[in-house]
Amino acid sequence: MNLPQHGSNPIHVYRNLNIDPPARILDFSVNTNPLGPPAFIKERWHEYLHAIRDYPDPEASVLINALSKANELPPDWLLPGNGAAELIAAVSQELKGEKVLIIEPAFSEYRRALEAQGADIEAHVLSAENNWELDEQIFEKMTKKKALFICSPNNPTGKSYTVSVLAEVVKRAEKNGTLVVCDEAFYDFTEKAETLAPMLRNFSNLIILRSLTKMYAIAGLRLGYMMASPPVIARIKSLLPHWNVNALAQVIGTDCISDGTHAERTRHFIANERRRMHQLLTDMGFCVYPSSTNYYLLRPVERAALYVFLAKRGIITRHTENFAGLEGGFLRVAVKLRHENDEFIDALKEWATC
Ligand SMILES: Cc1ncc(COP(=O)(O)O)c(C=O)c1O
Repeated sequence: MNLPQHGSNPIHVYRNLNIDPPARILDFSVNTNPLGPPAFIKERWHEYLHAIRDYPDPEASVLINALSKANELPPDWLLPGNGAAELIAAVSQELKGEKVLIIEPAFSEYRRALEAQGADIEAHVLSAENNWELDEQIFEKMTKKKALFICSPNNPTGKSYTVSVLAEVVKRAEKNGTLVVCDEAFYDFTEKAETLAPMLRNFSNLIILRSLTKMYAIAGLRLGYMMASPPVIARIKSLLPHWNVNALAQVIGTDCISDGTHAERTRHFIANERRRMHQLLTDMGFCVYPSSTNYYLLRPVERAALYVFLAKRGIITRHTENFAGLEGGFLRVAVKLRHENDEFIDALKEWATC
């Protein structure tokens, strides 16, 4: 099957599968907030529109001040980007031709961005059998590496590594002179909101990436940020375009960061709905992997056939053909609204009886 690199944009899936798209499509491949953007974005839209006339503030000072307050870090420890994806690309530029370790399965942009810079990539592939836990081999493999990319909660597994395990990685990496790039794009969906942020002040080899596009459902607007020590921030900033964060993203992002209610409501909703789906799917005999965030992995027996069966019924899941360690054996499924999740269950019941 010739399938798209990322989730979202189901029309590409239909084109590649050579199937006519049904009138109604439910996209379980996209992992943004199912509750949508916060209501205030619509309410303040006319206010926001004033921002588009002039060039954006190249320093994004108001946005950075909001991030600084929210993360209890001085402004020079923060750098916003045109999505976390832009920051992944910029960090990768720093790693031209260097030896880099990626903990896989992982978001495919790390590899893509690093390959574009000719980095010498080694993967450490975690296994489902070990519940995607980090093992001792990682310490051996990270010696002589310039950097290590890790994602927690991980996309695509939904696994959050404990802070103590990640802290050990950062400490050992510091001794080797290895930079740790920890992608926390989905951290705000987790109930515990575990983060490495408190380590930043003591470990200059740590970069944390965050995204606002998931929680605030503003993927089209593009906004992410990076936290690291000021010299690292200054180096990465020098690689970015002057006006890298557009004016709308700056004003809307500032309001999103300053508003705690949408995120809180979402966390609560996702946790309940994910638990409900886990139970329903397990009762139906599916193998479902524990997740701490807004998507989970399902391991069906005839996965390719199921993927196509669901697509024909207008349900798009995320294939896992291009994730090391998954090789298509799993489907990644987003936690969506309750009635949408029920439609997914109904389609699986139909599958089970056909
Ligand atoms: C783990 C992870 N990090 C970063 C990104 C990129 O996020 P953004 O939309 O902020 O560029 C994604 C997007 O799917 C992701 O899954």
